[in-house]
Amino acid sequence: MDHFNYIDGVLCAEDVPLTKIAEAVGTPVYVYSTATLTRHFQQLQKALDWTDHLICFAVKSNSNVAVLKVLADLGAGMDVVSGGEYARAKAAGVPGERIVFSGVGKTEEEMRQALSGGIRQFNVRSEPELDRLSRVATDMGLSAPIALRVNPDVDAHTHEKIATGKSENKFGIPIAKARAVYAYAATLPGIKVVGVDMHIGSQLTDLQPFREAYTKMAQLTRDLRADGHEIIRLDMGGGLGIPYRRDNNAPPLPIEYGQVIRETVGDLGCEIEIEPGRNISGNAGILLSSVVYLKEGEGRDFLILDAAMNDLMRPAMYGAHHDIVPVLEPAVAAEVSAFDVVGPVCETGDTFEKGMELNRLSEGDLVAFRSAGAYGAVMASEYNTRPLVPEVLVSGDQFAVIRARPSVEEIIARDSIPAWMAG
Ligand code: LLP
Repeated sequence: MDHFNYIDGVLCAEDVPLTKIAEAVGTPVYVYSTATLTRHFQQLQKALDWTDHLICFAVKSNSNVAVLKVLADLGAGMDVVSGGEYARAKAAGVPGERIVFSGVGKTEEEMRQALSGGIRQFNVRSEPELDRLSRVATDMGLSAPIALRVNPDVDAHTHEKIATGKSENKFGIPIAKARAVYAYAATLPGIKVVGVDMHIGSQLTDLQPFREAYTKMAQLTRDLRADGHEIIRLDMGGGLGIPYRRDNNAPPLPIEYGQVIRETVGDLGCEIEIEPGRNISGNAGILLSSVVYLKEGEGRDFLILDAAMNDLMRPAMYGAHHDIVPVLEPAVAAEVSAFDVVGPVCETGDTFEKGMELNRLSEGDLVAFRSAGAYGAVMASEYNTRPLVPEVLVSGDQFAVIRARPSVEEIIARDSIPAWMAG
């Protein structure tokens, strides 16, 4: 459930008509709902209320500082994958002890930044990373709390580009090697083992892969304890999917997911961490766009929007589907026709949907891409020198720009001409 509904025939974000935001900020623009972010976060809280836990929001899914602050104020921790994301979490007021540092290629500088600013734990992916972290922490006279990211070799049944838990993926330490790597970690002076970490993929719509992976995690935890390690935390990763289509079977509910965690690892007495991104932010955002042209073609009609693949990459990159709906509610009996919905970038890949059934729209009409709050704005670029798409946050009947659209002058001013070419 989200808070983007038609009120008096106009699609609203909470109590704010999207027409009003389009007028004030222009299009394309991302619009997020505070009430939806809050609702999704609280559902996950409820799903884990049987145990000590921390929900570490995956900052990579939506990293706007205002969005992070909504969640931080509710008590969320953050899962970050770079020094930049760490700084964003800090800027949103998240204390270091609520920040988990994942990420495949942590640099020394990033390790230092997190150790000096405070960190809950590093999720470490490899032995060379352990060595480096131990050295950096020892140099600083500190000890770095770590969990090892273990790859359970489970098929997540999701898009191949976002599955991470199979043994052929580059992510994490193969489960068969885990005990040996933990034994090695225990010998390093700057390392303090605190937990086990897993993440098997994103947009999972079935609980079975989670159940399989977490069962393996429970056994590993018992083995590690038998080996003498003090395992006090389990980081279960993110990945719980969301409904992208209104008309298909909904993915499992957070409460059912929490139950799987309870059944598989609940008896170990560990503090539970999860790293959801999409489940919290996905349906809390839409991308608002205007029709630039309606082009009637040979056999097919095109709806050319002012949003493009650079603003919302997911369809071009993964063939992902986002429902596209008109902002002015069509009459029940309104005639529908099939359109190819495309952006203005000169690439065939700049196609959002082929043959989409929509009511007749005309130039200047507004449409909204649903489920665009996760991996939307964060993956946007300025390809074709299209200014980075702005972001707006709504709360009740208020809205505010939380990232402004840069002007073309600002974009050009970031480039510079080398002295040897000047004059
Ligand atoms: N934790 C780790 C270690 C991750 O790698 C990810 C996502 C998450 C948590 C959060 O996953 P979520 O709960 O959001 O599914 N750009 C792609 C998704 C890439 C996900 C990468 N890792 C997309 O647009 O679908």
